[in-house]
Amino acid sequence: MTQNHCLVTSRLGVRRACVEDAPFIHSLWTSPDVMRCVGFPNGLDTSVGAITQQIERSANSNFGPLLIAESLETSARIGQCKIGAPDSEGICEPDIKLDPAHWGVGYGSELWRAMIDHAFTHSEARIVQGTPNRANLASVRMQRGSGMEIVDEGVFEPNLSFDPSAIAVPYFTFQVTRLQWLTAQGSS
Ligand SMILES: CC(C)(COP(=O)(O)OP(=O)(O)OC[C@H]1O[C@@H](n2cnc3c(N)ncnc32)[C@H](O)[C@@H]1OP(=O)(O)O)[C@@H](O)C(=O)NCCC(=O)NCCS
Repeated sequence: MTQNHCLVTSRLGVRRACVEDAPFIHSLWTSPDVMRCVGFPNGLDTSVGAITQQIERSANSNFGPLLIAESLETSARIGQCKIGAPDSEGICEPDIKLDPAHWGVGYGSELWRAMIDHAFTHSEARIVQGTPNRANLASVRMQRGSGMEIVDEGVFEPNLSFDPSAIAVPYFTFQVTRLQWLTAQGSS
């Protein structure tokens, strides 16, 4: 692991975002392709300046900061992710947004598994959870392939005062418990 990577996979290193990453994160968050499945068909209405401030605000947080996944081979930015601290029920909910130029070559699955491992090894999380759009086949398959199971489903209603073009998102709740994760570690 290089000094500035908080986790590594076979092809990716994950590091804290710095202000120079704000334009890249902006390109992801304003992309309809990236944001459609999470309820924002026009992308988020945000600015590079607002994202810069968010990076600066989370600079000293252990679990909260925006993270960048980059290629170990070229250092090219592949996507943005977040692990997040466990909530009051011990549930940790990571998130990944990859650059569409790098979809479909296994980076999402590689990163998702590593983020689950990181959450269980670096926090007291009882459960790691994901809530993909039911229509987001890549995310659903990524979560199923990481050993998570569907435990519930529902619909996220949009907050139209935040974004009038936001849409409802029918989702599955995928979870893996610490015991299931430990059991899978033992059998691999
Ligand atoms: C969801 C996302 C992270 C997946 O990353 P990825 O690197 O493209 O996914 P992978 O290449 O690891 O593929 C994961 C699985 O989905 C499958 N898959 C990939 N693209 C697919 C597609 N367009 N349609 C159906 N299945 C697809 C793969 O075959 C693989 O399944 P398998 O392991 O059963 O063979 C990425 O598409 C993304 O960032 N999307 C936008 C943001 C988003 O939706 N984030 C998820 C929030 S829950």
